[in-house]
Amino acid sequence: MPSDREPMAAESRTEKRVGEALTTTLFHCSDLHFGHPAVPAQYEAIETIIAERHYDVVAISGDLSQRARSGEFQRARVFLQHAKRFSEVIVVPGNHDVAWWKAPLGFGNPMAMLENYRRYISEDVEPVLRIAGATIVGLNTSQGVTRRTLTWNLRDISIIGDLRRDQLERARTEFERSRAGDARAIVMHHNPVMGELSRRHGLKHTQRILGAFAEMGVDLVLCGHDHQEAVHYIEHTKKGTVISTAGTISNRARGGRPSSVNSIRITNESIDVSTLLWSSDDKAFVPGPSKCFAR
Ligand SMILES: [Fe+2]
Ligand SMILES: [Fe+2]
Repeated sequence: MPSDREPMAAESRTEKRVGEALTTTLFHCSDLHFGHPAVPAQYEAIETIIAERHYDVVAISGDLSQRARSGEFQRARVFLQHAKRFSEVIVVPGNHDVAWWKAPLGFGNPMAMLENYRRYISEDVEPVLRIAGATIVGLNTSQGVTRRTLTWNLRDISIIGDLRRDQLERARTEFERSRAGDARAIVMHHNPVMGELSRRHGLKHTQRILGAFAEMGVDLVLCGHDHQEAVHYIEHTKKGTVISTAGTISNRARGGRPSSVNSIRITNESIDVSTLLWSSDDKAFVPGPSKCFAR
């Protein structure tokens, strides 16, 4: 364990106001899967984009590793250190970052499941980032194998995400501290909207959770896990929510889809989400579809 390491996620629960900005720009990527699935040409292209575009925030919605191994997290840590040179960074764990076999169904030491993540990425698995114009709350949906997420489908072991009531309450409390008018965003791993190709939700109890987010005035959810890019708008009686699902940056994209990331621009009036798709001809991420939503 490096003794001189910096905290890798955004300095959690601290105020970070860096002047009044009319717009907030976010770079949203997910599922880098450092280890065998990661594609150097792709994550290096992303490092270049981050260095050139100087986003206000780089948000990474989990699955930094493939098997929660030290070496995988060490490479992810280098990626995060690079991003921190140019932007605020917020990151949460994905199911691949959790060594669920160390404490299945509560047997064993639950703290051991995120030992490597905490060692190399961040002690804080649910960071909060406050910048001018936006509050971003991280939620850890990757809780290993629990009774709540068990299904009869063996494929679901450790795959399904969950949020407990106390996690939602903490998010609510964090947003209550936000300035009126600031954008409110959640970053979490599991997709609450069914994947077009997978036909699956990553998260349990999606209706209840999306309803709770709407009650909190959440404008934007940043997630991944499905390995297919998607942008949705969920209408609620109180508040509509934009869902940015970033595809993977690895060789595990679903259905032969290209790897992808989402570039987001938030103003007082709107949220624009543009998808960048990997072009193997150009060896670069090129502009894909764009959507604009009124806030
Ligand atoms: Fe993944
Ligand atoms: Fe995942």
